[in-house]
Amino acid sequence: MSAVLQVSGLRTAVATADGPLEIVRGVDLAVEAGETLAVVGESGSGKSFTALSIAGLLPAGATVTAGSIRIDGQETADLPEPARRRIRGAQIGMVYQDPMTSLNPMMRIGPQVREALTVHGWTAAEATRRTMEVLDEVGLPTPGAMARLYPHQLSGGMRQRVLIAIALAPRPKVLIADEPTTALDVTIQQQILQLVGGLRDEYGLAVVWITHDLGVVARIARQVSVMYAGRIVEQASVLDLFGAPTHPYSAALVASVPPMRGTDRGDLPQIGGSAVPLADLPIGCPFRERCPQSIEICAEREPDLLPRNGSHAACWVEPGDWT
Ligand SMILES: Nc1ncnc2c1ncn2[C@@H]1O[C@H](COP(=O)(O)OP(=O)(O)OP(=O)(O)O)[C@@H](O)[C@H]1O
Ligand SMILES: [Mg+2]
Repeated sequence: MSAVLQVSGLRTAVATADGPLEIVRGVDLAVEAGETLAVVGESGSGKSFTALSIAGLLPAGATVTAGSIRIDGQETADLPEPARRRIRGAQIGMVYQDPMTSLNPMMRIGPQVREALTVHGWTAAEATRRTMEVLDEVGLPTPGAMARLYPHQLSGGMRQRVLIAIALAPRPKVLIADEPTTALDVTIQQQILQLVGGLRDEYGLAVVWITHDLGVVARIARQVSVMYAGRIVEQASVLDLFGAPTHPYSAALVASVPPMRGTDRGDLPQIGGSAVPLADLPIGCPFRERCPQSIEICAEREPDLLPRNGSHAACWVEPGDWT
């Protein structure tokens, strides 16, 4: 099956006082219809900038400088800006972490959902009908009454459902969720994961789920990409990641997850050393100074993402040779 979302060689830079700084440094990923890809990695590794680059929602000063972003086979990276915005806006829905800052506090729920449709050319009548339908799809009771409420009248979990409704209103093929459940308590988090899993299965959505929580990865996704310093350092099935990680960074992450956490939530475990500043990347592998497996070549060249035991890892050392 071909991927609904296919990203390759994605590079994104931000303008800084010292010139452009690359913060996404060649990311490849692919997601098929009805599948979830989880993206994990420590704070500052470039997860959000990768998501925003794909969705075409980068802040001012940040630019995609290279790479391909295909949706259903159609290249969108080199389209002129209006066409690109039209296609991505309709085909990619995005949900952010904080429901309160992404909703307009002064506007009722219904008009906020409708607006997500009318900007994409839906007629008023179609948009009204679809608003009620999508509020129902995300499991909000009595959509008609819900549409008349203001964001502050809803619980955190309900606001998150509204954001999912806004993202899914134009019936996109791709949903990108950037840590949308971090602010929610465990029970509500579980409900949101179930909701998105159900919508994915029902509508064949391709989902990219960014998270700090390895427990969430295991619950929602079959494939996972591990990011480090603006690149994907391991691409694996969730089973392989937990059972036989092929990059020393992923191995350290997995090893530090307490066993049998159940539905406990947790931030990505801290591993030894601190993240390398992107403005000051060393020559060679950026993980080298924290890596227990590093060898001479790691200080000389940054490895590409290479096939490794059924997974892909950007590492010079085969897991069989790990000490
Ligand atoms: N204007 C800027 N100037 C310099 N560095 C920047 C700028 N904007 C972003 N960065 C850097 O880009 C990197 C990637 O940020 P991003 O928000 O994508 O990380 P993340 O993986 O989503 O982290 P988190 O888990 O904390 O959300 C960070 O290291 C950040 O410091
Ligand atoms: Mg982020």
